[in-house]
Amino acid sequence: MTVRTDLPPDFVWGVSTSAYQIEGRVDLDGGGRSIWDTFAATPGRVRGGVGGEVAADHRRRMVDDVALIASLGVDAYRFSISWPRVQPGGEGPANQRGLDFYDRLVDELLRRGIDPVVTLYHWDLPQELEDRGGWPARETALRFADYAALVADRLGDRVVRWSTVNEPWCSAILGYSAGVHAPGLRDPSAAVAAAHHLLLAHGLGVAALRDAGVTGGVGLTLNPYPVVAAGDRPEDHDAARRVDGIANRLWWDPVFRGTYPDDVRADLAPLGFDDHVGDTDMAVISQPVDALGLNYYRRHHVRHEAGASAENGMWPGSPDVLSVEPPGEHTALGWAVEPDGLTEVLHQAATVAGPVGLFVDENGAAFQDPDRAPVDGVVDDPARVRFLRDHVAATALARTEGVEVRGYFVWSLMDNFEWAEGYESRFGIVHVDFETQQRTLKSSAEWYRELLAGGGAVEAG
Ligand code: FCB
Repeated sequence: MTVRTDLPPDFVWGVSTSAYQIEGRVDLDGGGRSIWDTFAATPGRVRGGVGGEVAADHRRRMVDDVALIASLGVDAYRFSISWPRVQPGGEGPANQRGLDFYDRLVDELLRRGIDPVVTLYHWDLPQELEDRGGWPARETALRFADYAALVADRLGDRVVRWSTVNEPWCSAILGYSAGVHAPGLRDPSAAVAAAHHLLLAHGLGVAALRDAGVTGGVGLTLNPYPVVAAGDRPEDHDAARRVDGIANRLWWDPVFRGTYPDDVRADLAPLGFDDHVGDTDMAVISQPVDALGLNYYRRHHVRHEAGASAENGMWPGSPDVLSVEPPGEHTALGWAVEPDGLTEVLHQAATVAGPVGLFVDENGAAFQDPDRAPVDGVVDDPARVRFLRDHVAATALARTEGVEVRGYFVWSLMDNFEWAEGYESRFGIVHVDFETQQRTLKSSAEWYRELLAGGGAVEAG
């Protein structure tokens, strides 16, 4: 398989992870508990009843893991900071021992010539803040700004790019309405409040980072998916409009246009959405950013069916949305493989974000077999190689068509704690044996290394 990417030499190739998914040992160096510790410890919430206590043990294997990252030949490494390690109770002065770890990580990356890309919030809210209302409470956004300032103070001279929040749709909707992510609530009104406060946190976080004088670019990471109406009736198109509203426009319109879309506001009005929007909030949320990260996995295919989403909480204010899966190849999580959706979403993002640099901050797939266990030290994962090849090509196509996409990051560097799916869903290009913590490069990692070494053209498979 050959893929010619024709991407410019300054295009940023990277791999992504997040703190709770890989680090383990949350208690080390005075760290506190997050909502994911609580959620994972609640029976029935996470497949297999597992949590992030050990995960990929990265907290203790960091130096070796950075060597592994370097061996891939990437330009950048995107990781997240654990808020409860930095502020165990979610407020007050920094726990410097918690920050020391990230300080060492950043230095180790730079020593190896890898650019550190930092996400401040990848879902591990300090439990104490949840106890005081969590994201549905405005106060949490203010606390986030303090936390951002503490991290900026320590790392602001070396981080190359900052994302305030990662996939706020997941935090708000999956966390507070669908109840399938921490903190596991099923309250649509709380979810729409959380949505606004996550955006406010982003805006306040941007200001805090800039006030601290960080040298790197500043932005956020969204997960917009193109929406397809799986039916031709007007109500099918309305279902698609609603999903596009809640999944996509609810997030990037306020950041880049300074307003919530009228139709989304109307859809969410019965849930009290407007009550949370203060007079000056939109100016805070829409201050200029340098970058927009996009996490892309698939499209949403939806049609109207009365009451289909009334119980599952996926689309607050829209009870009649049925998600359907298109034919064709699917990943182990049942997600349709649709690389052209990535080209499409990059075009959509460029239209909204204008000249702001776009980065594919996450893209990858879980596949069941045969990458379960190494055989003679080899993990052959041809489906993932094809997946990555086709999505890299889709990214390059968008660039050829004029979209200012500046980087591509594989999700994920290594197998990890896949949230409610536990350790069963393996997204890594590096296999992790969770018993021994042995790391083994899968064929996809070898493929990615060849792609980067070859300057954009590689034979594989
Ligand atoms: C994204 C998350 C990431 C990972 C991938 C598979 O939604 O940002 O942490 O779980 O999905």
